[in-house]
Amino acid sequence: MARIVGSIMSTHVPSIAGAMSRHAEGEPYWKPFFDGYEPVRAWLDEVRPDVAVVVHNDHGLNFFLDKMPTFAVGCAPQYLHADEGWGIPEVEPFPGDPQLSWHLVESLIGEEFDLTTCQEMLVDHAVTNPMQLCWPDPDDRAAIRIVPVTVNTVMFPYPSARRCYALGEAIGRAITSYDAEEDLKVVLMGTGGLSHQLEGRRAGFINKEFDLRFLESLTEEPAWATQYSGEDLVRLTGSQGVELLMWLTARAALLGGARKVTSNYHIPISNTAAGTVVLEPAA
Ligand code: DHB
Ligand code: FE
Repeated sequence: MARIVGSIMSTHVPSIAGAMSRHAEGEPYWKPFFDGYEPVRAWLDEVRPDVAVVVHNDHGLNFFLDKMPTFAVGCAPQYLHADEGWGIPEVEPFPGDPQLSWHLVESLIGEEFDLTTCQEMLVDHAVTNPMQLCWPDPDDRAAIRIVPVTVNTVMFPYPSARRCYALGEAIGRAITSYDAEEDLKVVLMGTGGLSHQLEGRRAGFINKEFDLRFLESLTEEPAWATQYSGEDLVRLTGSQGVELLMWLTARAALLGGARKVTSNYHIPISNTAAGTVVLEPAA
């Protein structure tokens, strides 16, 4: 039997890892951001998940513009990080859970999601940063298996918000139908966002009003953002703000409704409106 214990949504700005390696969490710039993870860690200490299904967008470390799957699932026994050019420390490999990965793949392809399956997969800051934020101790990270799921938000056309929501619901069904020997506790993670744009004339663009509306929608009105197209989301949240599609996917997996455990919103971390949310199943 497997059950979803909750969904963690988290920004994944690379400089967070730099701050952690310099032990700068208490500095005035960083404190309001890192303080948002204390309740996340306390919650994780209580629920103690075995596996994290990490919905993220690869930024060019694993997939490049020559080959860009819309959705991909990692099926590897472990996932390596590598130098991404951000000057952040490389993180140790993350253990995988190939059996759960293949169950997800079979279930999702059975529901007509045409996925790419990856028996080797590098993971970038979109996985490593939220993992480090949630489990700062490398020994704790080594005890959590991961199943990485990627959603393309780096090269047009993106999957629609509606499709990402449907993917999240299908992930929810796949996990709850998994016949594990142990009582497997699975946490969903959705990484990226909130509003930000790193390049071009609108570099530095942040839309606090939209972010707060989106944050509010996650608990009671989770499909709210599915009204927007990829182009709408770029206009409203910036060219990288579309990473909120990962949040939407992770939220949609909580099929029976959600209850908010904690949330934090802080502007800016680097060029990004930084958001952190934990949701639990309502029932
Ligand atoms: C930043 C944000 C991101 O989501 C990312 O992938 C890289 C950099 C930033 O704000 O610096
Ligand atoms: Fe990003």
